[in-house]
Amino acid sequence: MEDVKKTEAWIDESLPVDWGKIKEEAVGEILPHHMKLWWYCLGGVPAIMFLMLVISGIMMAFYYVPYPSEAYESVARITNDIPFGWWLRSIHRWCAELMVVTVSLHAIRVFATGAYRHPREFCWISGSVLLLLTLGAGFTGYSLCYTQTSYWAMTIGTGIAGKTPIIGDFLSRFMLGGDSIGEATLNRFFILHAAIIPSIIFLMIFVHIVLIRLHGVAEHIVGMQRELIKGLSRGDE
Ligand code: HEM
Repeated sequence: MEDVKKTEAWIDESLPVDWGKIKEEAVGEILPHHMKLWWYCLGGVPAIMFLMLVISGIMMAFYYVPYPSEAYESVARITNDIPFGWWLRSIHRWCAELMVVTVSLHAIRVFATGAYRHPREFCWISGSVLLLLTLGAGFTGYSLCYTQTSYWAMTIGTGIAGKTPIIGDFLSRFMLGGDSIGEATLNRFFILHAAIIPSIIFLMIFVHIVLIRLHGVAEHIVGMQRELIKGLSRGDE
């Protein structure tokens, strides 16, 4: 007991941080009753999916080879030869699909309940950036398998990017790393998928959550209206 107290005192002196306050800030906020409805807290699901994607992605990156001649074989090796490779790959794949679905549902919920309105404009804008980044991560990840379908997805994706007004040519050449799909393209997609896009998603989730904590979650407008109508029909003042 004495040892535990000594260790606690040592930690308090060496790390003079108010842990109670940090815990209160992180998990102590009192949430409105409607946040108990699952569709109101869908935003947490893509955050958890993102975490699982990062962990499973880092593990697979030890075995993936981003060169056209070896990419497909290295994915096949992860699936068939590496212990639990099939499991990691399935987790990565399912989490990616679920992230796209839940982030879209979350955006629809926010739109349908009007939670994007003033003063939450920046929550909406940071969320929209997150939606685009999620789709970008899905697209670049799909291309990494280097199958026939992912090759044609790359062709269509870079073609669409090339049609962007003004910066189209630059964008398409930047993605391709030349005039057509090749070694540079796969390398660039790998860097985008495994480093650049996840880093920006991480940063944007942080900004998004800080903004939400600053404003608090929006009132449940539909629920409030319903309560008001019920009250009026009862003849409440
Ligand atoms: C990786 C993607 C995202 C994550 C991790 C995320 C996370 C969250 C979380 C945890 C909340 C708190 C309430 C809830 O759980 O629903 C929230 C609220 C919100 N999100 Fe997202 N979000 C993401 C994407 C988006 C997108 C795509 C949009 C819209 C285009 C958006 C707009 C908003 C807005 C406006 C709020 C405030 C809603 C309210 O106050 O009721 N978010 N987000």
